Amino acid sequence: SIYDEASVPVYTLPDLLIQEDGLPVTTTDTWQQKRRPELLRLFAENVFGQTPPVTGDVDFEVTGEGTAFGGRAMRKEIVVRIGEARFHLLLYVPTDSPKPCPAFLGLNFLGNHTVSDEPGVTPVPQWKRDGEKPGVVYHLPATPRGDQASRWQVETVLKRGYALATACYEEIEADFGGGAKRGIRASLPITEDAECGAIGTWAYALSRAMDCLEHEPAVDARRVALIGHSRLGKTALWAAAQDERFALVIANNSGEGGAAISRRRFGENIADLVRNFPHWFAARYAHYADNEDALPVDAHSLLALTAPRPLYVASATEDLWADPRGEFLGAKATESVYHLFGNKGLGNATFPAPDTPVGDTVRYHLRTGKHDVTAYDWEQYLDFADTHFATR
Ligand code: GCU
Repeated sequence: SIYDEASVPVYTLPDLLIQEDGLPVTTTDTWQQKRRPELLRLFAENVFGQTPPVTGDVDFEVTGEGTAFGGRAMRKEIVVRIGEARFHLLLYVPTDSPKPCPAFLGLNFLGNHTVSDEPGVTPVPQWKRDGEKPGVVYHLPATPRGDQASRWQVETVLKRGYALATACYEEIEADFGGGAKRGIRASLPITEDAECGAIGTWAYALSRAMDCLEHEPAVDARRVALIGHSRLGKTALWAAAQDERFALVIANNSGEGGAAISRRRFGENIADLVRNFPHWFAARYAHYADNEDALPVDAHSLLALTAPRPLYVASATEDLWADPRGEFLGAKATESVYHLFGNKGLGNATFPAPDTPVGDTVRYHLRTGKHDVTAYDWEQYLDFADTHFATR
């Protein structure tokens, strides 16, 4: 891996406003009708794989309901069912705010009961591999309640007037090779030759969670901010690219395969991803290991699929593996598309000093510290959502 700027190769990014047939994109109609579908297809074929179709009914069963945080919120536990496939969505709605209220939605790493120490949440079994005993897989809630609380800041989110919805990514699909057998993909209607990676499956579940929020009268489904950290930041970007119902997207430390420009080869590379996490992607992605210039898209193409919706990309100073400058440049390179929509995008921003957010409809910050989601990050995301949701 490269860790100094002087060693970053010279590269040219694919032009977002030139279609595969060489014709330019000069109107938002052409972007929406032609270039967007084309880019989505290129990502499906080369990076994330095909997303499963929704064939049968999606239904929602409330399995638990109660007050939480001393009456500050109502808690709902909802089983989202897609035919035989199912996962648990945890929803908190602030009691005192005008309804319907905006919401944040994101997948969590370690279980719904870990996002806060609120005692009413039912731990849901999730797939875990035993690191010490290769081949041994457990289906259990392994992590203590509240373990991930600092990454979710649930009470702050509620105080600011937002609902919060979350599901555990490893209930949806186990995060290791062969994980597709454990989780919803096993019961989804996927044809044999269709390839969908784990990221594609997690993204699919986010859209089904959105289906569920559309049925929640207390939540304004037109003001749902999708948030994801790291591999789940890559997932959030792919989900929002495909599903325009997500009104705002936050990619926190999403790195390679997310917001970071692959052609820079700084920090993590495609070769690292396909060696360590081949199950996240379409098999074809391996073709671009040490061969980034052949990839018909790059991170800016994925980020631009969020346009003209508000997009927040965030990095951390010590998270060089994710290539902070590459994440900034990914966000920056979406500007032609945001401009097409008459939108400011990231504006004239240059790579900022730590803890100094920049940009407009596309926003970016470099937080001091390590690979994580912190109270500082949430403060910026809440302000960003306030700004953009107030004007809708
Ligand atoms: C690894 C991986 C990254 C990923 C991260 C995470 O570090 O290399 O691509 O973003 O895990 O999900 O925490």
